[in-house]
Amino acid sequence: MMIDHDKVRVLLLENIHPDAVSRLETEGYHVETVGRALDEDELIERIDGVQLLGIRSKTQVTARVLEAASDLVAIGAFCIGTDQIDLSVAAARGVAVFNAPFSNTRSVVELALAEIIALTRRLTEKNAGMHAGVWDKAADGSHEVRGRSLGIVGYGNIGTQLSVLAENLGMRVYFYDTADKLTLGNAQRCGTLDELLENSDVVTLHVDGRPGNSGFFGEAQFARMRDQSLFLNLSRGFVIDHAALRRHLVSGHLAGAAVDVFPEEPKGRGDEFVSELRGLPNVILTPHIGGSTEEAQADIGGFVAGKLAQFVGEGNTTLSSNLPAIALPQQPGTYRLVHIHRNMPGVLAQVNSILAEHSVNVEGQLLSTRGEFGYLLTDIGIDYSEIVLTKLRAMKETVRLRVVR
Ligand SMILES: NC(=O)c1ccc[n+]([C@@H]2O[C@H](COP(=O)([O-])OP(=O)(O)OC[C@H]3O[C@@H](n4cnc5c(N)ncnc54)[C@H](O)[C@@H]3O)[C@@H](O)[C@H]2O)c1
Repeated sequence: MMIDHDKVRVLLLENIHPDAVSRLETEGYHVETVGRALDEDELIERIDGVQLLGIRSKTQVTARVLEAASDLVAIGAFCIGTDQIDLSVAAARGVAVFNAPFSNTRSVVELALAEIIALTRRLTEKNAGMHAGVWDKAADGSHEVRGRSLGIVGYGNIGTQLSVLAENLGMRVYFYDTADKLTLGNAQRCGTLDELLENSDVVTLHVDGRPGNSGFFGEAQFARMRDQSLFLNLSRGFVIDHAALRRHLVSGHLAGAAVDVFPEEPKGRGDEFVSELRGLPNVILTPHIGGSTEEAQADIGGFVAGKLAQFVGEGNTTLSSNLPAIALPQQPGTYRLVHIHRNMPGVLAQVNSILAEHSVNVEGQLLSTRGEFGYLLTDIGIDYSEIVLTKLRAMKETVRLRVVR
């Protein structure tokens, strides 16, 4: 398959930033947009003939969707997480997945800091009181964050940046991560989650969405938290037990909470938000807006659209979430064979012997593997016959072959 740029059909769902649309239109692609998430059946209906699909966190790209997507070349997740996409089925069908792992890190960190200060100062209650006409200057239960301890669970892109900024506010930072992580500033690593919970006035979750994290923070963990401590979750909704959080807030054990992500989130604007956390004092509820700033959305839009265009135009897979990462400058005046294959011995030798058999000269070549799959870029002279492509496609290890001009 040789992709003709003015025939590339792009389907962007969930209100993706206009910067993505203009970046893809600059490439000459035909872009269709939908302002909301589509469910599995709706997406199956729309996916036929689409080469590039753009989604955010609410659209599930399941094995069924991928099976119906015979023209699909790549998926852009215009967000941080990619667990809404069946990555291994996508790889097995030769569909590359790209996301924006760093574009909204700062936005999440700033929201977390704002909430830590607002909850510690009980701004939520003072604000609600004032709107109800109540003038209450009492300092009871209001604290400075300076000198208080912050426990960060998950010390990745967001956790580490929060660590640095919280220390600048005078907080003592503890962190717990299941992986080995470089400690920044004066933060202290905890060997166990319990150690972190026992040491923290504020506990904030920034773990990733791996399936093993489902419900990992429940009754036992809330019970371990300090009396009058605060809890924040801006990571994934399914990682905490909301009923347990409610119990600890209602009993007064926890002094407040901020929650941005929920196990069941409304699909669109105007749909009712249902949660056991509604109506509780000193609880800040936000509609999954941790990364939703104009700065982050613009950055994500341009970043992911750029990755899709580079993949279509050059076969470049740098930062792909499911295929081996390769970037190879293309020799001028060559065609590029983009070969996705099962990672088995002898594939490179077979490809090169087919090329040699038909007197096709290799001008540049790069191979990388990732788990079950291999990704091979081969730049060849333009003088090749269709039979070469037919033979490469017929190899039993070939998942997909594409030619880039
Ligand atoms: N609220 C929002 O709008 C919003 C925006 C962006 C990101 N997020 C979410 O924030 C989370 C963090 O993002 P990131 O970019 O920092 O991710 P990241 O992958 O850089 O960091 C996650 C860290 O958590 C650690 N971890 C995973 N499971 C753990 C566990 N059970 N206990 C301790 N550590 C664990 C990992 O080792 C890793 O260091 C993700 O879940 C992401 O989806 C939410």
